[in-house]
Amino acid sequence: MEPVELRTERLLLSVPRGSDTDALYAACQDPDIQRFTTVPTPYTREHAAGFPVKAAAGWADGTDAVWALRHDGTLAGMVGLHRLGGGEGELGYWLAPGFRGTGLMTEAARAVVEWGFTGPLGLARIEWRAVVGNTGSARIAQRLGFTYGGMLRRALRNGSGDRSDAWIADLLPRDPRTPAAWPIDA
Ligand SMILES: CC(C)(COP(=O)(O)OP(=O)(O)OC[C@H]1O[C@@H](n2cnc3c(N)ncnc32)[C@H](O)[C@@H]1OP(=O)(O)O)[C@@H](O)C(=O)NCCC(=O)NCCS
Repeated sequence: MEPVELRTERLLLSVPRGSDTDALYAACQDPDIQRFTTVPTPYTREHAAGFPVKAAAGWADGTDAVWALRHDGTLAGMVGLHRLGGGEGELGYWLAPGFRGTGLMTEAARAVVEWGFTGPLGLARIEWRAVVGNTGSARIAQRLGFTYGGMLRRALRNGSGDRSDAWIADLLPRDPRTPAAWPIDA
């Protein structure tokens, strides 16, 4: 796949690059990013420097589409569609702590989901999974119209090797993009 740029009202989404290393390294020290995502823990400068290379490889082999969120030119977070290749994908994201609480990820993830369905991939389904209790992440998926699917026991493993139960939800191309009721406190 050729990397694509996406624009939203407040953001440019573009591929991670070498000049993101310092911002990536700083953001990924955040305990919530380490707890709730698969970033390596401890997160070193080498991990940060290698990330744009891995992201480029994901685009090239069609397995992962990853974008950096750029807000006024500053790296605010990452969003991606993962495990691509079988006509579906898994949505993942994180925001640097200073950029939370203003709807930036909802805005970014909405653009990514629409690109996944209507762009060259033409996905049939997008899945979301999060550690049970990660309500900040759940609220985003719920706002985008994802349907809650249940709880998967011990299904997620973070960068420290800790296993957690997972909430799972999914979105299909024709689902309404309005928040549905979820039977959990999201
Ligand atoms: C998950 C995570 C990205 C959520 O960040 P966030 O700032 O809450 O998400 P958004 O950018 O969509 O902001 C939504 C919040 O901004 C508020 N907001 C303000 N303006 C808004 C707007 N225009 N649109 C939507 N929300 C808006 C919302 O009310 C919401 O607050 P609430 O959660 O109290 O309801 C962030 O907490 C994070 O990076 N966590 C660590 C990594 C992680 O857990 N990743 C997900 C793994 S599954």
